[in-house]
Amino acid sequence: MTTQQTPTATTPTWTPPPVRRDEFDAPGDTAEPMGSRAVGLRVAGVDKTYATRRGDVHALSNIDLEVGRGEFVSLVGRSGCGKTTLLRVLSGLLAPTAGTVEAGERPAWVAGRRDDTVFAEFGLVFQEANLFPWFTVLDNVALPLKLRGVSKAQRRTRAAELCATVGLSGFEDSYPRELSGGMRQRAAIARALACDPSVLLMDEPFGALDAMTRDRMNLELQHIHAVSGTTVVFVTHSISEAVFLADRVVLLTPRPGRIRSVTPIDLPRPRSVEVEATAEFGELVVGLRRQLDEED
Ligand SMILES: Nc1ncnc2c1ncn2[C@@H]1O[C@H](COP(=O)(O)OP(=O)(O)OP(=O)(O)O)[C@@H](O)[C@H]1O
Ligand SMILES: [Mg+2]
Repeated sequence: MTTQQTPTATTPTWTPPPVRRDEFDAPGDTAEPMGSRAVGLRVAGVDKTYATRRGDVHALSNIDLEVGRGEFVSLVGRSGCGKTTLLRVLSGLLAPTAGTVEAGERPAWVAGRRDDTVFAEFGLVFQEANLFPWFTVLDNVALPLKLRGVSKAQRRTRAAELCATVGLSGFEDSYPRELSGGMRQRAAIARALACDPSVLLMDEPFGALDAMTRDRMNLELQHIHAVSGTTVVFVTHSISEAVFLADRVVLLTPRPGRIRSVTPIDLPRPRSVEVEATAEFGELVVGLRRQLDEED
């Protein structure tokens, strides 16, 4: 992992400011048992079966998971094991076939109907930034605020703050096509943060980026998480990325997706790239990789 980046005309040179330890006490840093911690998200007994023309696909089976408020959970597993399905169930885009989803102790589905007020507090980021090409960066970031009826002056101020948070100051008036892939993803993260989400759900948000940009985005995301205190569920194919970012790594087994293991990551925060050279980090990555290999 490296933080080196050569500044270019289109790449903002932004380094996340250091996070003071007292700014944010990540739940994973405490020995407090999960039961006594405020819950950000909870799924219980979740099953998901897709009905297709060629028959049913049992994608998730009996998923029980609690994510503490402000906690960062990474979700890993083989391709097709149900990570996206679980994230879509968590985000309210997909109804579970069975089981319950709660956000901040509130049920997300009541009698098969989605409670939109619960999901309004969620921010979503996918592999593709999905920005509107005809809107500037600022207007893209401000869009969720516009949809909520926030005044133009207020939403422009807030969107500019968010652009600064993700290192896009100076690019507010650029169009998505004028940005690099990493910058577009930052804009997508800023947009997801616009409504101060209590939960941020991210599905391989850096999967399409080159390795160096991805490393840098990991540092930035760590900082954003630390200062915002948002609950994060982060899907990735990269075990080292999962370990670097998370308070806990959840590993799913395929067909149907079940939780195989939950690994606490007790590495101190904030984490710098040097942590990846430590024996502790290496052992965590090797242990998780071994579990994945056992799936073959
Ligand atoms: N809309 C759908 N209709 C039918 N089957 C689906 C649908 N979406 C996903 N599936 C099936 O559900 C299973 C889990 O898919 P999912 O996309 O959740 O996996 P994933 O872990 O995100 O994979 P990847 O790492 O490749 O993104 C797969 O067998 C897939 O074929
Ligand atoms: Mg997926």
